[in-house]
Amino acid sequence: MALRYALRTYGCQMNLHDSEKVANLLHHAGHREAPDEDAADLLLINTCSIREKAENRLYSDLGALRAWKAARPGRVLGVGGCVAQQEGDAVLRRFGHLDFVFGTHNLRLVPGMIEAAERGERQSRTAEHRSLDRFDLPGRHADYAGATPGRAFVTVMEGCDMFCSFCIVPRTRGREISRPAAGILAEARSLAGRGVRELTLLGQTVNAYGRHDLRRGKAVAAGTMAFADLLRELARVPGIERLRYTSPHPLFFDDALVAAHAEIPELCPHVHLPLQSGNDRILGEMRRRYTAARYLEIARRLQAARPGIALTTDLIVGFPGETRSEFEDTLAVMREVGFTDAYSFKYSPRPGTAAAALSDRVDPEEAQDRLATLQSLQRSLTLAAHRRRVGEETVVLVEGLSARSPVGAGPRALVQLRGRDPGHRVVNFTVPAGSGAPREGSLVTLRLVEATPHSLIGERAQDRPGVKDPLRLVYGRRSASPGPRTPGVVG
Ligand code: SAH
Ligand code: SF4
Ligand code: F3S
Repeated sequence: MALRYALRTYGCQMNLHDSEKVANLLHHAGHREAPDEDAADLLLINTCSIREKAENRLYSDLGALRAWKAARPGRVLGVGGCVAQQEGDAVLRRFGHLDFVFGTHNLRLVPGMIEAAERGERQSRTAEHRSLDRFDLPGRHADYAGATPGRAFVTVMEGCDMFCSFCIVPRTRGREISRPAAGILAEARSLAGRGVRELTLLGQTVNAYGRHDLRRGKAVAAGTMAFADLLRELARVPGIERLRYTSPHPLFFDDALVAAHAEIPELCPHVHLPLQSGNDRILGEMRRRYTAARYLEIARRLQAARPGIALTTDLIVGFPGETRSEFEDTLAVMREVGFTDAYSFKYSPRPGTAAAALSDRVDPEEAQDRLATLQSLQRSLTLAAHRRRVGEETVVLVEGLSARSPVGAGPRALVQLRGRDPGHRVVNFTVPAGSGAPREGSLVTLRLVEATPHSLIGERAQDRPGVKDPLRLVYGRRSASPGPRTPGVVG
């Protein structure tokens, strides 16, 4: 039976993209998106397990969804993603109102599991598949636009063989596997044909792409190539104007990838390169396989290859045994690189990881204090990076309405839009409302006129000076609008 579906997505871009893949499979099976969860007959939760809080979120969601399930007969509830892969059957046993659990290798089974649920069968399918056919998913259904107009994610590799001592991902995403380049290029061409201008290549360690096939003969047989060569091929696809990738690992950041940033104009001047810690002993304990000096070398070379490049990172504070002075080494590296932004986390022990067995936990208050110190440093680095750019011209890809839109009402009404510049910074700009306003997914040239701690403010040439003044008058006052249409991702 055709159902109206809703999807809740937690976690990283891989999960967001898996939700897109599932939504597309549902469209091919005849189901359609519901306007909201109240109107849905089918609800899928795509879960994240990266920290304890993320995992617990599923259990509180499922508790609250007993009422959703009971409110209408025939409703179907499924759970997928990293917690599903990790816990499998246990989730099904614990929550009697849950119909099925699908693992991260089993997206293709979802339509069949829905049919089985309609017959009253409950099941959990979390087996790991090593075969390349997991990448052979159907192309975008004509009625399915994807979550992000103008932009698209493309999977280039999956899984992770790094086993950093703190991280659960190798257990939830399985072994590393690279997708043949022909499929990646075919998907890029097809997306470009549908108006996509920006691609983000995805992989848990995306620049490890093809590394298991590094010997030339083997790479040819497996259909992969060096990551920098893949970027070059993708940049040549007509219609693709911007290329990004996430997340690279410092260990695989080779000379060819640095050079790619100097040579490929389509490659955006932004690299999100997780550092985790700036102290070599902690990096060793984390099993990250690089030193702070090596990280700094990559950063400096990228800054030389592409002047103005925005470097962002992930950081963990309070790893077991981390002393105050070891933590301060992280602050020193942050200052030295001058990160444009950072995602920072308190260490959270994860089941089955090597670090979970370490006993010398950092006092939670001390860890909280380190996080606050680090975040305050990052705020000042971000603001400084934004201020340096005021006066520059940039081109943003429009993502939707900003949180402050609309501005005013009537014939002189304005809307504030939110876009991303090549450096992946959020730039808000105000334009007259109505049919002349740029659409989601279009590219707009702006001059940056103001820096804020979280974003930049820009102006189109044709809107100066008329539109600027009302914006300044209302700036700072939040409107009650629901904000952008682009789905939010919660970590
Ligand atoms: N593949 C990426 C990271 C993916 S996980 C890489 O190699 O860097 C996203 C981020 O979550 C990590 O970079 C790390 O900063 C954070 N993280 C992962 N496990 C964590 C844990 N157990 N506690 C706190 N933060 C964690
Ligand atoms: Fe986790 Fe490390 Fe793999 Fe990144 S490289 S996903 S941090 S194990
Ligand atoms: Fe991503 Fe969370 Fe899984 S960060 S890979 S969804 S554990």
